[in-house]
Amino acid sequence: MDKTTINFRLSELRKAKHITQGELAEIVGTSFQTISKWENGITMPDITVLPVLAAFFEVSIDELLGIKPLKGDVYSSEETDSEKFWDNHFEYIMRSRNESWNNDYLGFLIREVWKIDNPVNVLDCGCGYAHFAPMLMKYLPEGSSYTGIDFSSSLTEQAENLLAKYNINGRILKGNFLESNFRDRFDIVMCQSVLRHIGDSKAFISKMINAAVDGGLVICIDTNREIECCGLYIDGMDYGDLCDHSGAIKHWKAELENSKRDYAAAMRNAYVMRELGLSDIDIRISDKVSFVCPEQSDYDTKINDFIDSKSLWYADAEEAIERLINHGMTRNEAEAYVGKTNKICKYLENNKGEVAFTRFKGKTITFGWKRRT
Ligand SMILES: C[S@@+](CC[C@H](N)C(=O)[O-])C[C@H]1O[C@@H](n2cnc3c(N)ncnc32)[C@H](O)[C@@H]1O
Repeated sequence: MDKTTINFRLSELRKAKHITQGELAEIVGTSFQTISKWENGITMPDITVLPVLAAFFEVSIDELLGIKPLKGDVYSSEETDSEKFWDNHFEYIMRSRNESWNNDYLGFLIREVWKIDNPVNVLDCGCGYAHFAPMLMKYLPEGSSYTGIDFSSSLTEQAENLLAKYNINGRILKGNFLESNFRDRFDIVMCQSVLRHIGDSKAFISKMINAAVDGGLVICIDTNREIECCGLYIDGMDYGDLCDHSGAIKHWKAELENSKRDYAAAMRNAYVMRELGLSDIDIRISDKVSFVCPEQSDYDTKINDFIDSKSLWYADAEEAIERLINHGMTRNEAEAYVGKTNKICKYLENNKGEVAFTRFKGKTITFGWKRRT
């Protein structure tokens, strides 16, 4: 193992035990200057000292070296259910929305599946910059209206601009949907790409149902993280680098156990809707499969958006690795996972102008009707 994969946790462990460098030096039989050098990464202890340190701090050598997280590490949530997170990921949202729908398929759902032929009012919960609004309003009967609610200041500002730009009959509300109190009721209450990011999706769907009229339609659109991981093909890349996301499962599990955030929300929404009493629940899947190739006039935008979407989530690779270790991966798994993502980005970057790729996100559209009372 090379030295860069080591994240020596000595200083944290010593401070947690409230002992000085001098006291630790005595226990190990060395000088406090040597302890200081170990803590600052200037030198590393002799291999024979590691079991002594591990035994003293009651950790494994892997934990001491930062190869595995310390059991007592405080879980650091992704906090994707906070306003601050989305304010900071504004660019990520703006650039990752393209290529997620075939608009005509939405038209098909509206006409043929949901059979909406009279004007309706729609509530879009966690609307982001209201990217869904122009698409939706194009297919809804004339006289329909759109209301979007989101707690991110930067996204609601953009949403208002978008409504104005497309002359959409509607309004944007800034606020926490879970704390909102609508007097109006809506014919359609929907959310897109919200439930997999929040802790209590049942409370969110329940609130959506409350906001719907009797007989109203409730729609939850989400992407299952695992399908998304599998749905990438890059011409010329090794399948081992493209398809293996085994370590990520630990990260998803940790988010579920610690923050109740479910990366598989897309597959679970129907069960929650059933528990909450919606009728005629059904699930469709978006028919969008992106094929990006150099002959397309917007190739540069598409490939850059894809590469950047992979790097806009964390500040840098080390932050991503630390987060994944905190979420249950070993250092090796975290480095391998982040390394693979970087490899994909580098491959696309180095082969720009020649490489084509196919992406299937498997977005599910789960819907049901509020029973008439
Ligand atoms: C991944 S984005 C999706 C945005 C938009 N629906 C779209 O498809 O582009 C999730 C959005 O949900 C919003 N959000 C999450 N929880 C919320 C809550 N409790 N109240 C209001 N907005 C919320 C975030 O601010 C963010 O804009």
